[in-house]
Amino acid sequence: MVSAVAAHLLFFLVSVNLIPTTPILEERPFQAAGGGIGVALVKSRKRVFPVPHTEEPSLISEAYGYCNTPNRTEQAWEGHSPADYKLLSVQVMIRHGDRYPLYSIPKTRRPAIDCTLSISKKPSHPLMKSFISHMDQGGRGHWESPLGSVPRLPNHGVCEMGELTQTGVVQHLQSGQLLHQAYKRHNLLSFDWLPRQVWVETTGKSRTLQSGLAFLYGFLPDFDWTKVTVRHQWSTLFCGSACDCPARSRYLEEEQRRQYRLRVADTELEKAYTDMARTLGLATRQLRAANPIDSLLCHLCHGLSFPCVPTEDSGTGGCLTMAQFAVIRRQQLDDEVDRRRVGLYHKYAVLAMYPYLNRTATKMERVAKGSEAGRQPRAGGEEVFTLSSAHDVTMAPLLSALGLEQARFPRFAARVVFELWKGPSMTPGQPKKRVGKGDKSKAKDGELFIRVLYNGEDLTFYTTFCRSHDRHASQPLCPLKNFLSFVRRDMFSIFNTTSYQEACYRRPD
Ligand SMILES: *[C@@H]1O[C@H](CO)[C@@H](O)[C@H](O)[C@H]1NC(C)=O
Ligand SMILES: *[C@@H]1O[C@H](CO)[C@@H](O)[C@H](O)[C@H]1NC(C)=O
Ligand SMILES: *[C@@H]1O[C@H](CO)[C@@H](O)[C@H](O)[C@H]1NC(C)=O
Repeated sequence: MVSAVAAHLLFFLVSVNLIPTTPILEERPFQAAGGGIGVALVKSRKRVFPVPHTEEPSLISEAYGYCNTPNRTEQAWEGHSPADYKLLSVQVMIRHGDRYPLYSIPKTRRPAIDCTLSISKKPSHPLMKSFISHMDQGGRGHWESPLGSVPRLPNHGVCEMGELTQTGVVQHLQSGQLLHQAYKRHNLLSFDWLPRQVWVETTGKSRTLQSGLAFLYGFLPDFDWTKVTVRHQWSTLFCGSACDCPARSRYLEEEQRRQYRLRVADTELEKAYTDMARTLGLATRQLRAANPIDSLLCHLCHGLSFPCVPTEDSGTGGCLTMAQFAVIRRQQLDDEVDRRRVGLYHKYAVLAMYPYLNRTATKMERVAKGSEAGRQPRAGGEEVFTLSSAHDVTMAPLLSALGLEQARFPRFAARVVFELWKGPSMTPGQPKKRVGKGDKSKAKDGELFIRVLYNGEDLTFYTTFCRSHDRHASQPLCPLKNFLSFVRRDMFSIFNTTSYQEACYRRPD
C-alpha cells in the first residue's frame, strides 16, 4: 500500500462551483488541479520527499493511481490501536467510485462503457450477485426525500453522464468489506445493531447514493433494510443548516481568479489546447469549456484509447495524444503547488468544512459521554457508525481543513475515517466503583483519543491538531481534546478570530 501510494501521487483541485447556492452542485474536477506529495511518505517511514516529476511517464502513473483500479488487495490501518483500547465510534466519508465522464468532448464519440451490473463482467466482486438482489429490496428502507426516487443501482447499457460504473461499485464493495474486517474484532456493531447506531447520508446524485449502498453492503452484508434510513445532504459541503458564510464565497472567488491567472500564463498548456482543438476542428474556447481531461481520464481508467476524428481536407483530424494529456496534468501539478503557497484555498476549506467537522466532533462527544463509567447505556444505542457519501469537492476541502494539504487529491472511492478510542481506565488495582454524576473519580475513566485515516493510512500525526503532539508510550494516540479545541476555536486562528460566525461575517478590511 505504501509503495502504491508512492507510485500514484495525484492531486487535482477542484474548481468552480463549490458554493452551495443550488441544491446539488456538479463536480467539476480537473479544470484546475495540481500535484504534490503523499503525506504518508514523509516522516515516519523515513522516506525522502520525492521531487515532483514533470516527465510524462510519472504523470501517467499518477493518473492510474487516481483510477484506483480494484485489481489488488489493499492494506488498511483502520482499527489498529494499542491493546486495551476500546473503539467507541467510526465516522467515514467516502468519495463515489469510478464514474462516467461529466462532460463529453464535442465531435468525438463518447467512451463505450456499459453501466449495468453483471457478475460476468470485469472487474467483479464475490458480493456482486447478492448485492444486486439485496438492492432490489431497497423499497423496504427509509429514504429521505428526494432519495427514494434515485435508482439504487447503475442501470444504463450506455452509461449516462456521471453515472457510477461497475468498477465504482466494486471499489466500494471492497472498501466496505475491508472496514468490516478491520472492525470485526472490536465489536463496533453487533449482529443485531439498532437503527440509531448507523447513520447514512448522501448527496442526491445517483453515483453517491449507489456508492454509499455498495460500501454499506460490504460493511454490513445482508443488512436489514427496515433498520436503515438514508439521509439527504443537499449541499456537497454537507453543511446542513449552517451553509451561509459570505467569507467562504469570497475566498473561493479569489482562489478561482488565482487558478485562472496561472492557467492563462502557461504557454505550454495554451499550445496543447490549441493543438487539440485544431485536431477536433473546434474553437479552443469550446474545447476548454468541455473540460477534456475528465473524459480523457475515463478513457485511461478503462483502457480505452483516446478519441480520434477522421482526417479532413481542412487539416483537422487525428487523435488526442498522451503528450497533450500529460501537459494538462503537469499544469494541474503546478497549480497544486501554487494553491498551497497562496493559501486562499485553505481558508475557503476551513470555512467550508467547519459544519461537517463540528457535527463530527459533537457526535464523538455524545458517544464519549454515553461510554462514561457508571452510565446506563442509552436506549436505542449511540451513533457508533456514520457514513457520508460525498464528492471530491467535499473531500478535498476536508483534507485541507485538517491540515492534510500534502495529501493527494481524492481518487475514485477515496475514504477519510475518524475513529474514536477510549484508553484503559487509569486506576489499576482499584476495583471499579459505580459513580454518580459529578463524582471526582469519574476523571479516572479512560482517556479519549482520535485517529484520522486517509485511504487506509494513519495520518493523525500530520493533522494541524496533532502534528506537534508529543507521542510517548503512555499516550500513543492523539487526544480527542486536541481535535475538539481545534474545531471549536483554533481552526479560526488563521482569520484572527475564534469562531465560525466571526470568520464568516466579519467585513473584509
Ligand atoms: C492494476 O491496474 C493498473 C491500471 O490498469 C495497472 O497499472 C497495475 O499494474 C494493475 N495491478 C495489478 C496488480 O494487476
Ligand atoms: C456546532 O455544534 C454545536 C453542538 O456541539 C451546536 O450547538 C452549534 O450550533 C454548531 N455550530 C454550527 C455553526 O453548526
Ligand atoms: C491576522 O493578523 C495578522 C497580524 O496582525 C495579519 O498579518 C493577518 O493579515 C491577519 N489575518 C487576517 C485573515 O485578518
